[in-house]
Amino acid sequence: MTDLELYQKAVEQLKNSYAPYSKFAVGAALLTEEGNLYTGCNIESAAYSATICAERTALVKSVSEGDLKIASLAVASSSGDFTFPCGICRQMLVEFNPNLRIIVGNQQDQLKVFLLKELLPEAFTAQELDKN
Ligand code: THU
Repeated sequence: MTDLELYQKAVEQLKNSYAPYSKFAVGAALLTEEGNLYTGCNIESAAYSATICAERTALVKSVSEGDLKIASLAVASSSGDFTFPCGICRQMLVEFNPNLRIIVGNQQDQLKVFLLKELLPEAFTAQELDKN
């Protein structure tokens, strides 16, 4: 699957976003090394802090299926502009692959690609715990 195809899967997820409070829809599409696809959208809550982002929705779907080898993650939003994973999502994602490819796109289907470790340098990981 190409980066553009993965991004378009993220765009498709916008329709499932449950965001009655922010009205900001986010869609994500996660591809594993084996080529499996997991999609996600943001799901908000009246208890605002219980909200889960689209990226983590896709991640928990993948990990809970035993698919830990995440390779690429595409993100789309209703803003039509490039939307990057929030800090909490970056931290949860780095647990599984600091070399994860992050693909962000806009309404014109222009894409930007980063490695997660570029977006979360000097990450706190299990290696730090081993030093304790
Ligand atoms: N959101 C995501 O789903 N992913 C991001 O990367 C940024 C923020 C959601 C959370 C909330 O439902 C809405 O966007 C506004 O913050």
